[in-house]
Amino acid sequence: MKTVHFLLLLFCCSFSVAAQSFLSLRPYLQNPARDGVTVMWRTADPAYSWIEYGTDSIHVKVARTVEHGIVLANITRHKVRINGLAAGQKYYYRVCSQKVLKYEGSRKEFDKPVKTRFYSFSTLDDKGTDFTCIIFNDLHSNLPVFDLLCKQLKDVAYDFVVFNGDCFQNPSSDEHEAGILAHYTQAMNAADKPLIFMRGNHEIRGVYATGWPSLVDWDGDQPYFSFSFGDTRFVFLDCGEDKNDNHVEYSNMNEFDGFRNRETSWLMNEITQPSFRNAARRILIQHIPIYSWDNSFDPGFIPCRDLWDPIYKKTPFDINITGHLHWFNFYAAGKADNPFPLVVGGGNDEQSARVMILQKKGNKLVLKAIDCRGKAESFDL
Ligand SMILES: [Fe+2]
Repeated sequence: MKTVHFLLLLFCCSFSVAAQSFLSLRPYLQNPARDGVTVMWRTADPAYSWIEYGTDSIHVKVARTVEHGIVLANITRHKVRINGLAAGQKYYYRVCSQKVLKYEGSRKEFDKPVKTRFYSFSTLDDKGTDFTCIIFNDLHSNLPVFDLLCKQLKDVAYDFVVFNGDCFQNPSSDEHEAGILAHYTQAMNAADKPLIFMRGNHEIRGVYATGWPSLVDWDGDQPYFSFSFGDTRFVFLDCGEDKNDNHVEYSNMNEFDGFRNRETSWLMNEITQPSFRNAARRILIQHIPIYSWDNSFDPGFIPCRDLWDPIYKKTPFDINITGHLHWFNFYAAGKADNPFPLVVGGGNDEQSARVMILQKKGNKLVLKAIDCRGKAESFDL
C-alpha cells in the first residue's frame, strides 16, 4: 500500500514538474460570466491544447478552440473559452498541452500530453449578496511595489481582482509584457481567481500597445463591459488617452473621440438593463476620474466628463473607483461635483501606492485602502 502511495506521489510530482517546465505562462482566468470563463496560458513550444473540466475532477468534458472549422494547434499562446456552464456553480479544470512534433497538411504528430493539476473557479450568478474584490491601479510595472502591496493583503480571501489601468508601463514587447503578466497572475492565484485587466492611458502607449489586448480577454472583445456578481452590478469603462487625438505626442495615430462615443452608447444601454436597474449595489470602475482634477497634461481636456457627467448625475452608482492621478483620495458625494462617492487610487511608489479591498457582506459595502506599510483606511458606502 505504501509503495502504491509512493508511486502515485512520484507520478504526480513528475507530472507537475513537466507541466511547470512546458507551460511558459501558467493558466490565468479571464472574462468571467454566468455561463463560462476563459482560460489563457502559454507553452514553451508550439502545441495543441485543451481544457478538461467538470463539477468534479472525475467526470470531465473537453473544451478546445476551433476557428472556422479548424482546431487551433501549433501555437504557443493558448486561449480556450469554456461555455455552456451553469450559473453559480463551482467547476474544476486542468490545462492540457501536447507539443507538436509534426504539423503538415496531411500529417500531424504530437508528443505525450502534459497536464496541470486541477484548479477551480465559480461561475457568476445574481443570487448571492457577498463578494470581496481586490483592486490595483497605476503600478506602472513596478513589481517590487506590487509585491509590497500583496504582502499587506495577508490572508484576505477574494473572489476576483481588478487591475484598473496603467499597471503595464508603455508596453514594449510581447516578451516583456508577458513577464509582467506572469508576475501579476501568479501572485494573485489567477488560475483559480479571475483577473480583470483594464486599459489605462499607458497601456495605449508603447510599441506593443496594439498587441497588449491579446494578453487579456474582455466580454464582447471591447475594453468596456459589465457583469453581475451576486446582487451587485460592476461596470468597467475605458477612458482612452488623457490628451486630445490631435496632440502632437500622438502623431495623428489615435481616434479616441469615436471610440468614446460608441462606448457612451453602450453605457446608456447598460444602465437601462434589468441587470443594472435591479441590482442592490452598482460599482463603477474606470482609470481616469472625471471629477476632482482639470487635467494638467492637456488643460481642460476631460472628454469623459462632457460625455458621462450627465449620465452619472442621473444614475445611482454606489462608488466610482479610479486612479491615474497617483495620489490616493476619497471624495464623499458632492465634494468634487461627484454625484456619488469617488475614490482615486494611489501611485506606484512606496509612499503613494495603495491596494484596495472592496467588500460586500449582506447590504454592507466597505472600501478599504492599504498602503505599502500596512496602514489602512476604511470607507462605508
Ligand atoms: Fe493613467
